[in-house]
Amino acid sequence: MGQMENTSTSLVLMLVGSALMLWFHPIQAQNGLFHDYYAKSCPKVEAIIQSVVAKAVKKEARIAASLLRLHFHDCFVKGCDASLLLDDTSNFTGEKTANPNRNSARGFNVVDNIKSAVEKACPGVVSCADILAVAARDSVLISGGPSWVVPLGRRDSRGASIQGANNNIPQPNSTHQTLETKFKLKGLNVVDLVVLSAGHTIGLSRCTSFKQRLYNLTGNGKPDPTVDQGYLKQLRTLCPQTGTDDNQTTPLDPVSPTKFDTNYFKNLEVGRGLLITDEILYTTKGSETAALVKFYARHSQAFFQQFAKSIIKMGNITPLIKPRGEIRKNCRKMN
Ligand code: HEM
Repeated sequence: MGQMENTSTSLVLMLVGSALMLWFHPIQAQNGLFHDYYAKSCPKVEAIIQSVVAKAVKKEARIAASLLRLHFHDCFVKGCDASLLLDDTSNFTGEKTANPNRNSARGFNVVDNIKSAVEKACPGVVSCADILAVAARDSVLISGGPSWVVPLGRRDSRGASIQGANNNIPQPNSTHQTLETKFKLKGLNVVDLVVLSAGHTIGLSRCTSFKQRLYNLTGNGKPDPTVDQGYLKQLRTLCPQTGTDDNQTTPLDPVSPTKFDTNYFKNLEVGRGLLITDEILYTTKGSETAALVKFYARHSQAFFQQFAKSIIKMGNITPLIKPRGEIRKNCRKMN
């Protein structure tokens, strides 16, 4: 009897002990990031970021999309280390002039505003890379999408890679195989590719990113046969073949451009995906991506859950962890 009491007492103690451990060390990721990283050093950081993002989105709804994209373009080059945020100088070339970013990546001023607000509360503590990850989460939530707990503790790079930005981030006319490969190289699978591509449920694209498919997809003078005829006409009016400004913009999701929802997938089913790389996820015959598009078009909750999982996975791509990297004072410059 005494023996049994002892056993159950130690069992209870063990359980209480592990509960306490969980309490003090919740969700410790294997790569060194964890969600309460700033609990002591900057307890209000997430509230501060959220409030600056909310203000910016109120002023211009598109900022939500721009901030989400910055996190993606950061993570695909040298990991999520804010390398994208560094400005060029006379003796330093950053990533802002790389093909996927030039005249296109935006929202850097909002990141500056977030950083100033955070520095005021806790100087020298919160990395720019973590700011991008939290701002992306807040942007999705504000746009009506899911929320998730962001693992934190990334540090900022002391360098950038224009070659990495040009090579690792897929182009809007990449093939299905190239998309799969570029995601795979970052540890992301076909499910991640499909749900993360649905980041295009918000935001805008310039004509230059999709004009090829309106007039001359493969060099035979014919448009992409997978584009819906009405949509093709509309896009051709916005982006005439010659003589005008290819910087005109149009929504990536024409049905609900500022709402994070499943219309991205529904558009693909009716030939209204804007980029070649959007539409081919659906039109590539017999592909797993096509089946996934059909599934997520009808299962909003499954999409939200998977998006949260996949973006956490993306946010975990080779982070810089202490003692490597630094906490930049100004996101545009190394200290
Ligand atoms: C799968 C490969 C992808 C390709 C080829 C691609 C390409 C593009 C292109 C060409 C644009 C328009 C740029 C312009 O014309 O200025 C764009 C915009 C955007 N992309 Fe992607 N993208 C991809 C994946 C993603 C992912 C994974 C996310 C985030 C999870 C994302 C989020 C966005 C957002 C939100 C915008 C709109 C930005 C704004 O309005 O400022 N994209 N993308």
